[in-house]
Amino acid sequence: MKIAFFDTKSYDIDAFDKTIKGKNIEVKYYETKLNEDTCELAHGFDAVCVFVNDTINSKVIDKLCALGVKAVLLRCAGFNNVDMKYAFGKIHVLRVPAYSPYAVAEHTMALLLTSVRRIHKAYIRTRDFNFSLNKMTGFDLFGKTVGVIGTGKIGRVFINICLGFGMRVLAYDKFPCDEVKEKGVEYVSLDTIFKESDIISLHCPLTEETYHLIDNNALSICKKGVIILNTSRGALVDAEALLSGIKSRHIGGACLDVYEEESDFFFEDFSGHILEDDILARLISMPNVIVTSHQAFLTNEALSNIAETTINNALDLFEKGQCENELCFRGSTTVDCKNGKCF
Ligand code: NAI
Repeated sequence: MKIAFFDTKSYDIDAFDKTIKGKNIEVKYYETKLNEDTCELAHGFDAVCVFVNDTINSKVIDKLCALGVKAVLLRCAGFNNVDMKYAFGKIHVLRVPAYSPYAVAEHTMALLLTSVRRIHKAYIRTRDFNFSLNKMTGFDLFGKTVGVIGTGKIGRVFINICLGFGMRVLAYDKFPCDEVKEKGVEYVSLDTIFKESDIISLHCPLTEETYHLIDNNALSICKKGVIILNTSRGALVDAEALLSGIKSRHIGGACLDVYEEESDFFFEDFSGHILEDDILARLISMPNVIVTSHQAFLTNEALSNIAETTINNALDLFEKGQCENELCFRGSTTVDCKNGKCF
């Protein structure tokens, strides 16, 4: 079996080389992202392996099919970058549904603590031997209300962490989960999340329904001083609305591991360049905004789980003819082929 990897970084190569060792799989690692201009690189391969910022739209799908590529192996959980409706019946799409919800949930809490205790400021100050505490006052998380939107694998781990800090947790999900209710967490409406939360954390997928879930309207009903955490997908938040809320001092802080236009920038080194995206540049310049570049997944455990599941997905599909992590499009939604779960 031959797999062409796109948007590959050194840490991907390390993890995949270890997993592939001893298996009858030939790989080629490309640094470039998969898009309409780079499809040709998949010539002669059975499958392409892609990440969050590769583009698998109708044109790319047509080109891949014409090249004889049979499968798109997503080495991530989200699939908003794939035109699932168009792919159905043409090319197999497989994903890694879970690799380490702890990695993402722990990163979310790391961002929150950094923000509320001004660790990012303290780090820079003390390196400059500036030991002043002016403007460093934070607040206790204990007793604060956190609204968690999306109570799937990552949301649930994040809820556990918040409960450990003694926080009051409110939750919203399209499909509420008993495990969450049993912890004493209350499912409420989105409006209630916005009105009552001191901190809002996003852990739902990006769909047509959740696009710009946090927009001007939502922010206007949020508490003054609310902190927005987004480690899910950039387009859940209208970045322009967020920036204007930060500028008006209505929003107390934002911690973003994802950004709507991240595919142009994230994972690459732009130091020494003039950043073309004014909204991103302005957000980064704010003292109460912390941006990491889609790093929440990046732990040793997650990388090795991603590699193992991706390769097992390919082996299942090509050797057994089916794979439990295949995605299908039925009716108007994407579903998990094995258990029929809708997204
Ligand atoms: P999951 O599928 O286990 O959970 C997603 C939850 O969102 C489900 O409970 C689902 O019912 C809920 N949901 C679906 N539509 C909704 C809607 N309209 N409103 C509210 N809730 C809705 O997924 P998991 O593993 O917890 O991942 C969550 C998201 O985290 C992924 O979609 C992905 O975008 C993001 N992610 C980010 C990573 C990073 O490195 N920053 C790494 C991995 C995932």
